[in-house]
Amino acid sequence: MTDPAPATPSIETFLAGQDAKDQLRFITCGSVDDGKSTLLGRLLYDSKTVFEDQITATESESRKYGTRDGEVDLALLVDGLQAEREQGITIDVAYRYFETDKRKFIAADTPGHEQYTRNMATGASGADLAVILVDARKGVLTQTRRHSYIVSLFGIRHVILAVNKMDLVGYDQQVFNDIVTDYNGFARELGLGDIRCVPLSALTGDNVIAAGDAMPWHDGPPLMEILETIQVHEEDNGAFRMPVQWVNRPDSDFRGFSGNVASGRVSRGMELIASLSGKTSIVDRILGPSGDLDEAMAGQAVTLTLADEIDISRGDLLADANQAPDVADHFAAHLVWMDNEPMLPERPYVIRLGGATATAQVTDLAHRVNVDTLEHMAAKTLDLNDVAYCKIVLDRPLALDPYADNRHTGCFVLIDKFSNRTVAAGVIDFALRRASNITWQHMKVDKALRAQAFDQVPKVLWFTGLSGAGKSTVADRLEQKLHALGRRTYLLDGDNVRHGLNKDLGFTDQDRVENIRRVAEVARLMSDAGLIVLVSFISPFRSERRMARGMMDEGEFVEIFVDTPLEICEARDPKGLYKKARAGELKNFTGIDSVYETPMNAEITLNAGEDNVDQMADQIIGYLDEHSGQ
Ligand code: ADX
Repeated sequence: MTDPAPATPSIETFLAGQDAKDQLRFITCGSVDDGKSTLLGRLLYDSKTVFEDQITATESESRKYGTRDGEVDLALLVDGLQAEREQGITIDVAYRYFETDKRKFIAADTPGHEQYTRNMATGASGADLAVILVDARKGVLTQTRRHSYIVSLFGIRHVILAVNKMDLVGYDQQVFNDIVTDYNGFARELGLGDIRCVPLSALTGDNVIAAGDAMPWHDGPPLMEILETIQVHEEDNGAFRMPVQWVNRPDSDFRGFSGNVASGRVSRGMELIASLSGKTSIVDRILGPSGDLDEAMAGQAVTLTLADEIDISRGDLLADANQAPDVADHFAAHLVWMDNEPMLPERPYVIRLGGATATAQVTDLAHRVNVDTLEHMAAKTLDLNDVAYCKIVLDRPLALDPYADNRHTGCFVLIDKFSNRTVAAGVIDFALRRASNITWQHMKVDKALRAQAFDQVPKVLWFTGLSGAGKSTVADRLEQKLHALGRRTYLLDGDNVRHGLNKDLGFTDQDRVENIRRVAEVARLMSDAGLIVLVSFISPFRSERRMARGMMDEGEFVEIFVDTPLEICEARDPKGLYKKARAGELKNFTGIDSVYETPMNAEITLNAGEDNVDQMADQIIGYLDEHSGQ
C-alpha cells in the first residue's frame, strides 16, 4: 500500500510557517505577448514548489473575523481583498505562492489585457519588487514606461527588468545593452532606485533559474538568484496603524477592537488614538489567535482592549498617539484611472481608504502625465490607463497618511456608485487642511424660520429630460400656478443660467457635470432660503441627479422626468438645434451624440408627448399636496 498523499498545506500554514524563512512579495508586469505566463510558469515549475495556490474571492470568504471565547480566528491574509469582495468587485489578480530553499515567494500575477493598470495597481500596492518584462524584439514600449510609472507611484523601490525572448534575437548582447540603456535613462527620471537587468529566455530557461550557456557574455546572476537574495526589507514599515474591522463585545465586561495590524507595532501600555474622535487611551490587552500577547506587529490579526471606554466603531483607525495620522476631508493624490468610462471631475465616487468608505470627488485635476516623456499635460478628464495628479474632496473626514509614510493608510481605490466597478487607484501625496480652516457658520435665523415665514415647506422640483421635452414649459406653468396659490418660488432654467453663472461651460460631459453641480448648490441655497425651487435642466446623468438629491433634506428633492420620446422632441425642434446636430454642425447634442440616462427612481413621470401642459402642472401640484400637506 502506498502512503496517502500529504495534505496540501493551507495558505495560512504557508505564511505562518514555523521556519523563519523570509518572504518576497513581487509583482510581474508585462503584456500578454511578453511571455509573462511562461516565465512565471517556469519559476513555479523549476523551483522546488511545494504548492501553488490562487486566492479567489470565494475562497477568501471562508476566512472570517471572529472572536470566540476570547480567541481570535486567523485574519484575512491579503488585506484589501476582503474589502473589495464586500463591495462585489472581482479582482483579476492571482496570487501564486512558491518557495525555494532560501525564500518564500508571493507573486501577484496580473493579467496583461487591456485593463492592466487596474490589476497592476491592485498587485503593486502590496509588493516589494516588480519584475518588468520586455520583449527583446520590441524593446521599451509605452506600456513598459506606464508600468514603471505605476511601480514608482506605488513605492516599489526594486525593479528587475527581464529582457525576455533573447532566443529570438540570437542572444545578441547589443540588443540587450541598447534596451538597458534606454530603460535606465527613463528609470532615472522616475527616481526608481534599484534596477537589475537580466537577459533571458522563458522558453529555453536561460537565465531564469540557472545561467545556461547561451549568453556567456552576461556575468550577472540569473533571475531566480536575484529573487532569492535581493534585500528589500531594510525600510521600517511605519507607525502603528490598525483599521478597526469589528468591535467585539461578547458581553458587557469585554470590549475589544479587532483588525489586522496594517503597519508598525503595538505593545501593552502603549498610548493609542482613535483617529476619528481624537480620543486616546492605553492598550490594556492584546489578544492573538492563541491568547494574550505582549506585542503585535504588521500582518498580525489581533483584538485590542483599551483602559478607557472610548467611542470607536468599524472603519475607525487605531494609531500610535505619538504619530497620529491626518484626519482630513481633502487631499492631493496621484491617480491611476482604470475604467473605460472617463473620470469626470466633481462626479461623486465611492472611496475606500484603509478600512473606511466615503463619497469622494476629484475637484482639481492638476495635470495628466505623458508616460513616455513624463511631461505634465493639462487635462479635463481622464481616460483608461491615464495617470494624473489631482485634489480629492470627501464628504466626511477620514484618517489617512501620505503614501510615503504609510503604504496602507496612504492608498485608496475609487469605485463607481452605479456599476460598482473599481475605476481608479490612488496614492495620497498630502492632506489639505481645508476641513479645519473653514467651518460652517450657524446663523440664528435658519431654514425652518424662513420657511415658516413663508408658511410653506421648501422643495426642489427637479425637471429632467431631453432638450425640447417641455421641461421649461411645464415648469413655467407650474410656477404660475404655485404663485397664484401664494407660494414663494424661483425657477432655475438651463438656458438662462448658462447666460450668467454658467456661461463658461459648454456641453462636454465634464462641463455638464459642473453645470449640474453648480445649479444643485444654488438650488440648495434657495431651498435653505425657504423657497420652492424649480430646476429645469437636461441633467442627463443619473450620478449628478443623485448627487443633487443627496444634497437636499429628506423628502425635499422631487425628481420629475419629462418623458418625451426623442422622435417627438426632434419633430418639435423649437430652437432648430436637433437639425443642426443631425447635420453635424452641433457636437455633443443630448440624444444624438451625447447620452441621456433615463431616471430610474423619479417621483413623478410626465407623459409630455401626450398630456397637455395644464394637466402636467396639476399632476405635480397633486403630488405636492399629498406629500407636504400644501
Ligand atoms: S445640461 O445637459 O447641462 O443639463 P442644460 O439644461 O444646462 O444642459 O442646457 C440645455 C440647453 O442648452 C438645451 O435646451 C439647448 O437649448 C441648449 N443646447 C445647446 N447645445 C446643446 C447640446 N449640445 N446638448 C444639449 N443642449 C444644448
